[in-house]
Amino acid sequence: MNKKYNSVSVVGTQWGDEGKGKITNYLSLEADMVVRHQGGNNAGHSIVIDGKRYALHLIPSGIFEPKIKNVMANGMVINPIALLEELAQLEKEGITDYQLYISDRAHMVMPYHIKLDGMFEKIKGTRNIGTTKKGIGPAYTDKASRDGIRFSDFLDDDLFKILLKDSVNIKNKIFEAFDESLVSYDEIYNQFIQIREKIRPMVVDTSVMIYEALENNEKVLFEGAQGVLLCLDHGTYPFVTSSSPTSSSIPVNCGVPLNSVNKSLGIVKAYSTRVGTGGFPTEFDNEISDKIREVGHEYGVTTGRPRRIGWFDACLVRHAARVSGLTDLTITLLDVLTGFETLKIATSYVVNGKETKNVPAGEKDFNNVEVIYMELPGWKEDITKVTSFDELPTNAKNYLEEIEKQVGVKISQFSVGPDRKQTVNINKLFE
Ligand code: GDP
Ligand code: IMO
Ligand code: MG
Repeated sequence: MNKKYNSVSVVGTQWGDEGKGKITNYLSLEADMVVRHQGGNNAGHSIVIDGKRYALHLIPSGIFEPKIKNVMANGMVINPIALLEELAQLEKEGITDYQLYISDRAHMVMPYHIKLDGMFEKIKGTRNIGTTKKGIGPAYTDKASRDGIRFSDFLDDDLFKILLKDSVNIKNKIFEAFDESLVSYDEIYNQFIQIREKIRPMVVDTSVMIYEALENNEKVLFEGAQGVLLCLDHGTYPFVTSSSPTSSSIPVNCGVPLNSVNKSLGIVKAYSTRVGTGGFPTEFDNEISDKIREVGHEYGVTTGRPRRIGWFDACLVRHAARVSGLTDLTITLLDVLTGFETLKIATSYVVNGKETKNVPAGEKDFNNVEVIYMELPGWKEDITKVTSFDELPTNAKNYLEEIEKQVGVKISQFSVGPDRKQTVNINKLFE
């Protein structure tokens, strides 16, 4: 159990959308297996290969290479209908030769979860979370309350009928109480049995599969969704998602030993963005944020919502580095910051009159932090074709070095455009 495995975990360090899909896909060229381990189709990972853009929500970002085993592990909540739609879309785009496996212990997102997600958001009113309305929270709630339906249960018709009947009964009582229309057992059952035989061949014990790959010294890439600030435990609660995107959640989310992650790679956007509600200390709204949104195409891949924009916040990424045990960083979207006179970095907060480098748990404290910034000179040169750190303008080098110093983790890659070719390596990640 003390063996060193050849594995890398890709972790979002902010509020998601840091470019995890792009980097996972880039690193997958070297990998044997890519594993998504949490979340569901709330994620939107966009990948650009030779100028062509693909959007993935459930499917791991290694799907484009036939030799790669793509695994959806037990920690995910998977809407099987959305999964088949995503596969159909990929097939339309010419991606037909792939390996994809679903954990027999992963939970299914059901139509009533989606309805409950929308209903709870409506009830919360101004304190809504701004969820993606994909049913993620209610599906994880059912898992925790032991009312969920796993893929292995789905494949057993007798059990599926019992579990679905019980769930529909309970959910309809809730819908009734809130004057919502009811869901129909027959409708859901008929819809789901129509897709069952398409799903069945993909369902396996992924814990065994991932463990064997690790033991055989295969290169295993764990692809996180969301980001640490959206973590159920370590994020800006309650404005978070319902799973943990940290590297430390991987052993539970995949059924593998504690030492399964060799390198923990934090993906860091060169500035900050957030979709949905909740505090955002470095947020700003002016012609600079408008330019960042347009150049960086900062609109949600899943919901199309414009992303909120802020300066780089070292307090948040430091927090992510600690709670996720990051060993390396990739700085993405650096090119988007080209052309500004100066760039700001948040280095600490003042909370209730006291300076701190840590992130307060209290919602009011977090919403009211006073941010202490440092200001660095920007650069004007186009950096989208840069292929080494040395080719960067001095001010861009200084910006990266300051991030590295503030976060306290080495930068091993940076990214200067959406195409996977626009990635620059500094340190090797796989052995
Ligand atoms: P993910 O959820 O972490 O996979 O990130 P998203 O795909 O939701 O959002 C990242 C966006 O930035 C996508 O539109 C990517 O194509 C794009 N992107 C990734 N890296 C870079 C980069 O270095 N420069 C630019 N300009 N765009 C990038
Ligand atoms: P990727 O993997 C950005 C946000 C939602 C909302 C909160 C809860 O693309 O980085 P949920 O539907 O999960 O219950 O919503 O979390 N959110 C994301 N924001 N990127 C994501 O994924 C997200 N997944 C969920 O906007 O604020
Ligand atoms: Mg995204």
